[in-house]
Amino acid sequence: MTPSRTAPNASTDRTVAVFGGTGKAGRHLVEQALAAGHRVTMLARTPGKVDVQHERLRIVEGDVVDPVAVAKTIEGATAVLSTLGPTKNTPDHQVSRGMAHILEDMSRTVHAVRASDRDWTVVRVPMLTDGPPTGSVRVGDVGVNTGPRIARADLARFMLEQLDDPAHVRASPVVSAPA
Ligand SMILES: NC(=O)c1ccc[n+]([C@@H]2O[C@H](COP(=O)([O-])OP(=O)(O)OC[C@H]3O[C@@H](n4cnc5c(N)ncnc54)[C@H](OP(=O)(O)O)[C@@H]3O)[C@@H](O)[C@H]2O)c1
Repeated sequence: MTPSRTAPNASTDRTVAVFGGTGKAGRHLVEQALAAGHRVTMLARTPGKVDVQHERLRIVEGDVVDPVAVAKTIEGATAVLSTLGPTKNTPDHQVSRGMAHILEDMSRTVHAVRASDRDWTVVRVPMLTDGPPTGSVRVGDVGVNTGPRIARADLARFMLEQLDDPAHVRASPVVSAPA
């Protein structure tokens, strides 16, 4: 179990690009990132759905299938967080195409800035709930040390913690609520 906490060397001088920030988990991500002191740039298909206003929040209107909108969202960001998900039950692959744009753009940006590769973490989750945050999560692997659900607020916190914690770089942990 990983206690939810602010990493000891957490940097607040950071611009975080958020995709999926109008969604149910993404809203927590945007709110928590702003509360942690980060600057946030988010992509929104419908900016009117964003109900938070903040001097450190920049909204880029657009769709993730548009590479120009993706590039505008990532411009100047030191980290990218995505809770993109299909909102309709139709296999139109928009999210997959969008992720490809995000990764291509991150690659160009990172290589332009410094010749290193990208760090990534894919956070796997069971059923997401809108329940209150527990403040701690169970970190397991597929089929190992996992539970049936996790609150979206706890997922958002775990994602933000990864910005300052290298423990899960290039890994795909499964996070769930403590037993
Ligand atoms: N719900 C569960 O129990 C569960 C279980 C396992 C995994 N997951 C995954 O966990 C993540 C978060 O889940 P959630 O329930 O919080 O998701 P959600 O509320 O459905 O949010 C999805 C987000 O993706 C955005 N999006 C979708 N297509 C887009 C496009 N073409 N361009 C720009 N934005 C686009 C939506 O924007 P709009 O607001 O414009 O629609 C929304 O912000 C998703 O990846 C989901 O697949 C969910």
